[in-house]
Amino acid sequence: MTEIQRLQVRVFQDLEELSRVAAELITVLSKKSIVSRGRFVVALSGGSTPHRLYSLLGSPLYRDVIDWSRVYIFWTDERCVSKDHAESNYRLAHDAFLSRVPLPAQNIHRIRGEDEPGKAAEAYEDELRNFFSGPEAIVFDLIILGVGEDGHTASLFPGSSALDERMRPVVPVYFQEPKINRVTLTLPVLNHAAQILFLASGRPKAAAVHEIVEDGNPKQYPAGLVKPLQGSIMWMIDQEASSALARPFHTSVLNEQR
Ligand code: 6PG
Repeated sequence: MTEIQRLQVRVFQDLEELSRVAAELITVLSKKSIVSRGRFVVALSGGSTPHRLYSLLGSPLYRDVIDWSRVYIFWTDERCVSKDHAESNYRLAHDAFLSRVPLPAQNIHRIRGEDEPGKAAEAYEDELRNFFSGPEAIVFDLIILGVGEDGHTASLFPGSSALDERMRPVVPVYFQEPKINRVTLTLPVLNHAAQILFLASGRPKAAAVHEIVEDGNPKQYPAGLVKPLQGSIMWMIDQEASSALARPFHTSVLNEQR
């Protein structure tokens, strides 16, 4: 039996408009989750694209409309550096909004990038299992993801054995010097999310966006493997990142057989 997966693609004038709409969407999602489940559990990605969104969430406009006491923050991945390192995904979110909103410290579940990657992955897995109270139930209300020019997302890179992981929710990713080792959520967790928001901006992402959204080879473009089993997925892209799409999308809905 084929399932119809509804993949939404929304194109915005620029990263500013994309970020503002994303902040609005997150506000609405947080209210719905808190009303129905008493909490809003989010996994944040790193990289530069979400920085403006994170800054908006920390601004008075959104700081005062989201019930941060019911928001729980995790990360999709982390670089294996200290939490105050310039490359730290924790630091990115902390400086942009976590340090500016009334979110209880115990609601923040960072990946310990300062530890050995394998140990950091094990500790984060324990934290996930304790929080979600069971091996099967790691279900985020929202996961925010970016995409690299090579089609990677989180720290799931083309050709990585992490792409084949189906048991562990978190794995270490080792690189040869000088690249920094990482820790990442695996596809089973990403694909159990209730809502995925992919953010992509700029012409350098256009080819990957075309391959992933229209007809790519997912193995070559790992972001194309993110297909929530029950949840929804929306690609939020700006004009430049949409420039290689075969047809102009404007809040279009793609039905995809799978
Ligand atoms: C990270 C992210 C990574 C990021 C992409 C896109 O830790 O870097 O999780 O997957 O989303 O590399 O990065 P940019 O937004 O900087 O283009």
